[in-house]
Amino acid sequence: MKILFPVSELYPYVKTGGLADVAEALPKALSALGHDVRLLIPAYPAVKAAITSVRAVFDDGNLFGGGPARIWLAALGGLPVPVYLLDSDGLFERPGGPYQRPGGGDWPDNPRRFAALSWAAARIGWDGADGWRPDVIHGHDWQTGLMPAYLAAFRRAGPDRRRPGTVLTIHNLAYQGQFAPSVFGDLGLPADFAGLNGVEYYGGIGFLKAGLLLADRVSTVSPTYADEIRRPETGFGLDGLLRGRSGRVSGIVNGVDTTVWNPADDPFLPARYEAADLAGKAVCKAHLQAEMDLAPDPHVPVFGAVARLTYHKGLDLLLGATASLVAGGGQLVLLGSGEPALEAGFHDLAAAYPGRVAVRIGYDEGLSHRIQAGADSILVPSRSEPCGLTQLYALRYGSPPLVRRTGGLADTVVNAEPWAVAEGVATGFQFDDATPGALAGTLAWAMERYRDGVTWPLLQAAGMATDVGWGASAQAYLTLYDRAIGDVAGFV
Ligand code: ADP
Ligand code: GLC
Repeated sequence: MKILFPVSELYPYVKTGGLADVAEALPKALSALGHDVRLLIPAYPAVKAAITSVRAVFDDGNLFGGGPARIWLAALGGLPVPVYLLDSDGLFERPGGPYQRPGGGDWPDNPRRFAALSWAAARIGWDGADGWRPDVIHGHDWQTGLMPAYLAAFRRAGPDRRRPGTVLTIHNLAYQGQFAPSVFGDLGLPADFAGLNGVEYYGGIGFLKAGLLLADRVSTVSPTYADEIRRPETGFGLDGLLRGRSGRVSGIVNGVDTTVWNPADDPFLPARYEAADLAGKAVCKAHLQAEMDLAPDPHVPVFGAVARLTYHKGLDLLLGATASLVAGGGQLVLLGSGEPALEAGFHDLAAAYPGRVAVRIGYDEGLSHRIQAGADSILVPSRSEPCGLTQLYALRYGSPPLVRRTGGLADTVVNAEPWAVAEGVATGFQFDDATPGALAGTLAWAMERYRDGVTWPLLQAAGMATDVGWGASAQAYLTLYDRAIGDVAGFV
């Protein structure tokens, strides 16, 4: 099958969250299954710097009738799949992250930038590039939400040819690409696409909304989140639309790149280990305590967290529960950056509990690996979590995750109820209420289990035996692609 994979982030070049990891790992997994996958990504400076070979495959002056659009076909670093790069005067050749200015704040022309990405995907899908035309286009989040709209517009204007099937995956429904109505004039879509059956969304323009309405198939990154987004209380205003398309909405849990996340062969760690011999994990714990100025003690339970510091990650719950974590004899290591109030809160905790609480504000790939390996447990107290990757790394690194029971966290962690521990299937801890008290209570429970001398090795063994790779989920996407391709005959 020929699959085009347009994305706005790609690990390790441009990353704000788990989407970048998925963009790197899922195409690799599909390619390993024998499929012809090509990525499409904006030609950000960090991506251009990683090019190992490149040739132009598309160049015309017709980006929505405006500026030039250039598409190159490139090889990137060690990535085994080819990559189309989209360039257009000034849209992507900028410093900073993919969406924000260096000092923070979204680029004001983000609608145009990601309309361009969606347009390029549709253009390759409709006309092909360099003789290659995909059977299916798999877009991700609002940044590619307009892709099915452009494809529909091309089909209307063009010859009668079968278009590729389309899949849009929601990585986080909270980010919707919602803009002022005046943006419509910049998009180059036919006038009737401005309405409710097109891009109109609560009086403005909704990129994600358009994609959810027009893609053949909609998926999200766990079955529980697929259910949550169809409920009014957790549907971010799009639950009605998603209920209306229920037969086309599904959830496929993420995997991780098991070559990047492998405690037996991880270059960031001071020692390596595997399930049969955890001696190296004890070395990683001692190293982490030293690196982060925590009291050196092999017996104290160390909890780690690596996250964007945003409301939906529930880290304010952890702020409120840390005093009891410390009182219970635990240590905490946190790595993250984000909302200033959360950053300040964790700084204060580190100052209040020296040797017990260690905080690193910033982004640090190596430290994130050392926390996974050196902690005894990884905390993911999210209010909402479409899938979550850090709890999957934790399973693989023998650090039983403690998570809130929501979205993908509910689907990927088996709670340490006595029967599940006895059966050898429990892999971590879950709590329900999004309150500091509920988190504190579960931390106390986990610390008790940590010290009982029996439970922890069972949790670690079950977690490390869990298959967190992409194999099964890549197969599930292939089935979904088949369905999307099948839908085309009867749709648009
Ligand atoms: P989200 O995409 O919502 O942020 P995920 O759990 O899917 O959540 O993915 C987060 C990814 O970003 C993981 O790979 C995690 O290790 C990484 N990450 C988050 N914050 C940091 C940080 N400060 N330093 C290094 N890696 C981080
Ligand atoms: C989003 C979600 C996260 C998910 C990631 C990759 O950023 O917040 O839960 O794991 O996308 O799908």
